[in-house]
Amino acid sequence: MGAGIAFLAFEPLVVYQFRGKAGANHNQSLPRKNVPVCVTVCEITMSEMIMEKSDQVAPHKWRFSPHVVEAEVSIIREMLKISNLPGVISFAGGLPAPDMFPLEELKQSCVNAINQHGSDSMQYSLSMGLPKLREQIAARAKSRGIESNLKNILITSGAQQALEMVARAFIDPGDTILTEYPTYVGALQAFNFYQARYETVGMDDNGLLVDQIEAKIKRFNPKLIYVVTTYQNPSGRTLSLERRHKLVEIASRYNIPIVDDDPYSELRFEGDPITSTKAIGGDIVISIGTFSKLLAPGLRIGWINAAESIMPLFEKVKQACDLHANTFTQCMIMDFLERDLLDDHINKIREDYCLKRDMMIRAMKEYFPPEIKHTRPEGGLFLWCQLPEGADARELLDYAIDEKVTYVIGSAFHPDGGGKNTFRLNFSNASHDTILEGIKRLGRVFTKHLEDM
Ligand SMILES: Cc1ncc(COP(=O)(O)O)c(C=O)c1O
Repeated sequence: MGAGIAFLAFEPLVVYQFRGKAGANHNQSLPRKNVPVCVTVCEITMSEMIMEKSDQVAPHKWRFSPHVVEAEVSIIREMLKISNLPGVISFAGGLPAPDMFPLEELKQSCVNAINQHGSDSMQYSLSMGLPKLREQIAARAKSRGIESNLKNILITSGAQQALEMVARAFIDPGDTILTEYPTYVGALQAFNFYQARYETVGMDDNGLLVDQIEAKIKRFNPKLIYVVTTYQNPSGRTLSLERRHKLVEIASRYNIPIVDDDPYSELRFEGDPITSTKAIGGDIVISIGTFSKLLAPGLRIGWINAAESIMPLFEKVKQACDLHANTFTQCMIMDFLERDLLDDHINKIREDYCLKRDMMIRAMKEYFPPEIKHTRPEGGLFLWCQLPEGADARELLDYAIDEKVTYVIGSAFHPDGGGKNTFRLNFSNASHDTILEGIKRLGRVFTKHLEDM
């Protein structure tokens, strides 16, 4: 490109004149921030050019995939926007308590990660994840009765990506997934992109009603059974040991994989630990874990624990998703585990969340109308509430937002939009004082408006 030739850069829309010598390095010579000096390059005026651009370049008219256009935004993410407004008390997100993040220890793990791994900690790394971290995760699983080694573990960018990978690996348009009713909204979001359809099975205080599963399998031939068996998001319920055995037995008989999404089982504050479906079922179960609730969600490190024979499939999917999980945060967590800090940390969170659960339940007893029922989870982050039949949690949410307090409406967790009289409360994120104040505010809303419904 020779001296004096002008050219157009459409973003931003300006006309530049190139003054460099012929053959000069264009990147260096390109005065991208220069004042436009030439407007007569083409046979059209600037205003015609702008017209032409805005007529032709209309990103909102591009042919995006209908799956993306029609996908619903996450109600929880939307609620988080409201929750961040000043003065709002949020029981909506599934956020851990920010004051419990072990920042000093994590800071040290940052330093140690760089000291120990140097530039490798910043480099591309294996799609399956760093072998040492996989070994550490397998060892933790083993201590909970789950027979596994590093070959069973693939590191993901959080449990949410594990769900996305399961969806990519299994779901073709129209395939049926069997889920609990209610179920985790993030799983629905992941599966919806692959045009899954859902068959659901109800729950009681002992979790999924497994007696209904076989009939659903016979009738709908689901590709997967998706469950959150322990301290379920959203309901806080846990599948009983007896039902775990039954679930595994039925799924094994029909050779249908159980995807047990398990971010919460280590956050137990009460009762005896319960054997995981993975420990009971072995290869029929694909277990998903995460450090999000145990350590910090911002690290974005989770994992899939599955049969060695299917790991190459997940490895291919992982490569297509993002090549590999964050190398640096894997190194940090390796260090945190190596220094044996995780179990003490988990014990601290358990204590804190137990106090908060109790505080929330006490406040609900005092301020909520007695006809509102709720679960009493033995661990995890959530309480599940049921308004009287006919009441609409969505309508009440508008009044709650006026009072600057939020929750997530239950219908978001029901694939068919049911559960209109239910809602989910998170008790881990708010401080002790705000829990009390938030429940008082909700109590005012419910007392005032429930009568009208
Ligand atoms: C059941 C369940 N699965 C997956 C996730 C996503 O977790 P992560 O932060 O590890 O992606 C959550 C988060 O709330 C969850 O509750």
